[in-house]
Amino acid sequence: MKKTINWALAGTGGISNRFLTGLRAVEGAHALAVVSRTRENAEAFAARYGIEKSFDSFDRMLEDPSIDAVYIGTPHTLHRDMAVKALKAKKAVLCEKPAAVNAGELGEMIQAARDNRCFFMEAMWTRFTPPLAKVREWLAQGLIGEVKVMQANFGFSAPFNPQSRLFDPSLAGGCLLDAGVYPLSLASMVFGGKKPERIVSHLYFGEAGTDEEALVILSYGGPRLAYAAAANRTAMKNDGWIYGTQGKIHLPDFVFSHSAELLLDGRYNYRYEGDFLSNGYNYETEEVMNCIREGRTESPVMSWDESLVLMETMDAVRAQWNYKYPGEKG
Ligand SMILES: NC(=O)c1ccc[n+]([C@@H]2O[C@H](COP(=O)([O-])OP(=O)(O)OC[C@H]3O[C@@H](n4cnc5c(N)ncnc54)[C@H](OP(=O)(O)O)[C@@H]3O)[C@@H](O)[C@H]2O)c1
Repeated sequence: MKKTINWALAGTGGISNRFLTGLRAVEGAHALAVVSRTRENAEAFAARYGIEKSFDSFDRMLEDPSIDAVYIGTPHTLHRDMAVKALKAKKAVLCEKPAAVNAGELGEMIQAARDNRCFFMEAMWTRFTPPLAKVREWLAQGLIGEVKVMQANFGFSAPFNPQSRLFDPSLAGGCLLDAGVYPLSLASMVFGGKKPERIVSHLYFGEAGTDEEALVILSYGGPRLAYAAAANRTAMKNDGWIYGTQGKIHLPDFVFSHSAELLLDGRYNYRYEGDFLSNGYNYETEEVMNCIREGRTESPVMSWDESLVLMETMDAVRAQWNYKYPGEKG
């Protein structure tokens, strides 16, 4: 029987609901508390899901010694402050993607994790699903030869609402950080977490002043290229492709992939359909729990350095378009 790890969820919006479903499928994970900006939301969420403790103050939640880990499911602009506070209170932190608004903020979060010897990870949940784990295996075995090109999209069409975090510049709205982070993360995984040598990008800004389409081309040196597309008002065919000298890998319905295909140029075709337990958010939770139990402060699958390179890449794209969020320094 594995030692129970008690979680507190911060935020009661869309992703917290989905994360909770996944968390409840993990042995030894216990959703003990929820924290919201308002008592009403906290109590309603707790009642809906049978959660024992509810807080309307993040600081008071952190004073509770029975909470081991905090999940941060609030808008990007709140990630840094919440994570740093939680790490200083010696809680493990799983923080939604993008880990922060920029690399400066993420640097502070990583420093807090280091100083307090606490676990911290960006919740790049797709990394931990069985199809993506299988893709890492195939790449490590060199099955498609030398990897040359990666291409992935994540575009959806959200109804335009300037108040929603997706379009509100003061909540770091826009598709690059919200959706683009997934194909960029896949590129990073495929090319070993390395910093791209060159970045070329295009952002399209809509009526709220936030980016609604993003296209990023990354060069990892020599023939190694990645191109990533994202949108939040355009539904795309969301696929991921990895091309090598001896074959290719296809991730159908990338981001929500339940399968992965290995296509070895006319010699062999194989479709991997791994078990996909719960809604998929269970796998990142399992990773956090395993790391905590093993005394690790970071995950080798989604390391601090890799999150930092991702954040620096998105900073570089925004800098190319002179795009800053209100009040953002630097
Ligand atoms: N991993 C994934 O698949 C995935 C999917 C969607 C989103 N995300 C990430 O998760 C984070 C939250 O996204 P979401 O779609 O869940 O957002 P959401 O539906 O707007 O919910 C965010 C929650 O954060 C809390 N909050 C605290 N301060 C807020 C503020 N100033 N404005 C708005 N909400 C505030 C609210 O809960 P209270 O009112 O209870 O305080 C709100 O319900 C984002 O960073 C996003 O990138 C990840």
